[in-house]
Amino acid sequence: MARGSEEHCNVPTARSRSCVFRMQFSAFGANSIFTDEPENVRYILQEGALAGKVGMGTDFHDQWHEFLGDSTFNLDGEKWKGSRAKLRKQFTRERLADLHLFEYHVERMIRFIKAHEGKPVPVLDLLHRFTLDTSMHYMLGTDENTVENPVNQFSHAWDTVFEIMDARARAGGLWRIILPQKPMKDAMAILNGVAYPQIDRAIERRKAGEKLGDSFLDAITADTLDREEIRGHLMTIMLGGRDTAALTLTNTLHALARHPRVYAKARAEVMNVVGPTDAPTFQQMKELKYLRAIINEVLRLWPILPYTRKNALRDLSLPVGGKNGGPVAVLAGK
Ligand code: HEM
Repeated sequence: MARGSEEHCNVPTARSRSCVFRMQFSAFGANSIFTDEPENVRYILQEGALAGKVGMGTDFHDQWHEFLGDSTFNLDGEKWKGSRAKLRKQFTRERLADLHLFEYHVERMIRFIKAHEGKPVPVLDLLHRFTLDTSMHYMLGTDENTVENPVNQFSHAWDTVFEIMDARARAGGLWRIILPQKPMKDAMAILNGVAYPQIDRAIERRKAGEKLGDSFLDAITADTLDREEIRGHLMTIMLGGRDTAALTLTNTLHALARHPRVYAKARAEVMNVVGPTDAPTFQQMKELKYLRAIINEVLRLWPILPYTRKNALRDLSLPVGGKNGGPVAVLAGK
């Protein structure tokens, strides 16, 4: 049973209305605050997180530990900052500008779609396979080709892990007692069975002073040779990047199919900036302003991550949402 009260809302306009709600879940005694106030969201994701006042908390850390180890998504405070700093270093402009790998996978996917001409193609499933292939190639340097070979142990184990994480979140603090642990162990054995040999080879290459490749894995061994830490970084990026990209692409294709006028304009922009045969460069991608506006609108209409949950690790105050629009006091543990 939940009891809610509206604490404060911005003066609504035709385009925006943001609020802070306080919610009591009486069955478990939990006390939650919901907010979409930009000031509060900024505080939660930046200032509060950097000050170690806001974070995921120990329950979340433990639920995700087998999968993520100790990494950016499930660490808090100083440890989170350290882990995040190592990840950020990998997202340099040069690495992001290297589009060859993505082009290789896009071409294969287009070939796959063309080979099914006249037959329906399950777009979300295909794009999930596409983003798995690109993530694994980019991160590990392996080409799994699940686009053409959908029955793949790794992708099946990946999906199993997320079903289990969902069940753990719903079971709350009781997950260790009421959920069977074997399915998670089996799924992780498959994921780690693919990841560990690649990680170990990268560590050996780095130690032997060999010339390294372009993969994220080779690059991250410059910052750490800890096998578990590297595994955590890999899983974090694949977790952050795979479904988000697949869903954004699927929703964008859906929107374009429903709006032929917008599709025609976007196509004309691509033809004008990139041309009919070339692969886009990083600079050209930045010039595709109409396409970017479409993707932004798609994310606004169908947010991929419509909400996120955080814990108050220490007593804190959210900037707005209290009586008369002032700060909201939040006690540690809420
Ligand atoms: C449309 C695409 C995406 C959306 C909507 C999205 C959304 C978000 C949001 C809302 C958060 C904050 C979550 C929180 O702290 O509770 C987040 C964090 C994160 N995302 Fe994404 N993301 C997207 C794509 C990606 C991609 C492509 C990657 C990696 C290649 C990625 C990696 C991460 C990581 C590592 C974090 C944790 C950052 C930290 O704790 O400081 N995301 N994302």
